[in-house]
Amino acid sequence: MYDNPLVDQFGRNITYLRLSVTDRCDLRCTYCMAEQMTFLPKREVLSLEELERLAGAFIDRGIRKIRITGGEPLVRRDIMTLMGRLGRRLQTGDFDELTLTTNGTQLRHHADVLAALGVKRINVSLDTLDDAKFEKLTRRNRLSQVLRGLDAAQNAGLHIKINTVALKDVNEDEIPAMIEWAHGRGMDLTLIEVMPLGEIDEDRTDQYLPLTAVQDALQKQWTLKPMDKSTGGPARYLKVEETGGVMGMITPLTNNFCAGCNRVRVTCAGEIFMCLGHGDKIDLRAAMRGPDPDEVLNAMLDRAMLKKPERHSFDISEKGQAPAVPRHMSVTGG
Ligand code: GTP
Ligand code: 5AD
Ligand code: SF4
Repeated sequence: MYDNPLVDQFGRNITYLRLSVTDRCDLRCTYCMAEQMTFLPKREVLSLEELERLAGAFIDRGIRKIRITGGEPLVRRDIMTLMGRLGRRLQTGDFDELTLTTNGTQLRHHADVLAALGVKRINVSLDTLDDAKFEKLTRRNRLSQVLRGLDAAQNAGLHIKINTVALKDVNEDEIPAMIEWAHGRGMDLTLIEVMPLGEIDEDRTDQYLPLTAVQDALQKQWTLKPMDKSTGGPARYLKVEETGGVMGMITPLTNNFCAGCNRVRVTCAGEIFMCLGHGDKIDLRAAMRGPDPDEVLNAMLDRAMLKKPERHSFDISEKGQAPAVPRHMSVTGG
């Protein structure tokens, strides 16, 4: 049991760990990555044992929810071994929720096992249902694989939230149809504003679509009722009366949600980032590989709490502007 919970200098309780297990991905979404990316050499990536030890250190400090992220977490070869080990701790009540954010391409191979080890709901990133658009947006032809992954996950009894980044002129027109499709299949769908993280081959001012405008447009055709629902993540939820489904909005640019922040991120190289929107980080890998790892790790988590900033400072207003944060989303898994 923990007797020393993680609380930051603004009084926020940190109970949610987003743990990235790889920076690699089998897609190349244009808003996320450049076509040519340099990934970390394998020796810099934490081993399975190190990831497990790290997760354990957070659990001992009161973390109740762990989300495994990437890059694409399911492209890491030994990922299901880690999921199995964390699943055992979940089943003994050491923490409350083990989950995953995935692009879905490999989901058909793993859905049954995920459900069996205690995962209840997963988030699947999908920005379009149109084959040609999917290929253009992700630079890969994998939509049918993702759809098969969704079928497998639903058959396994996993609850699914689709994450859709709202992109001007790309999937803008498709948003209502995607919501109807998701709700028709019993899935939630959350829209996300594009964030200025890392250099890409395009200008994000050409991609950015404020969700205030999307919500105004949707309200012309549907009745949207704000809900109390919270998953511990940053989304605000709305019930769509006409479809009977739930729609989420993640609005870092138009409606800041940092006051309720409850999370930190650790990369697959063992760096803890206290905020998605800041470059500040602490190297936990060195702590784990040195003497007295448990003690040093704990001291570093205390230091991380002191350094967690109050809010991000994202801005997408000027053309040609450098990204607010040079790191790509795939380094921390969002
Ligand atoms: P649940 O609420 O548990 O369903 O998940 P989530 O929305 O926290 O996680 P998910 O991995 O599905 O993330 C969805 C999007 O929210 C990603 O694009 C993340 O980058 C974004 N996001 C998550 N946490 C934060 C945050 O603290 N700040 C910002 N700006 N974006 C975040
Ligand atoms: N802005 C907003 N969302 C992004 N994602 C990746 N890069 C960005 C970005 N720059 C999304 C993915 C996935 C989630 C983890 O983050 O589409 O849904
Ligand atoms: Fe891969 Fe996700 Fe980035 Fe797309 S958004 S390239 S699926 S990490």
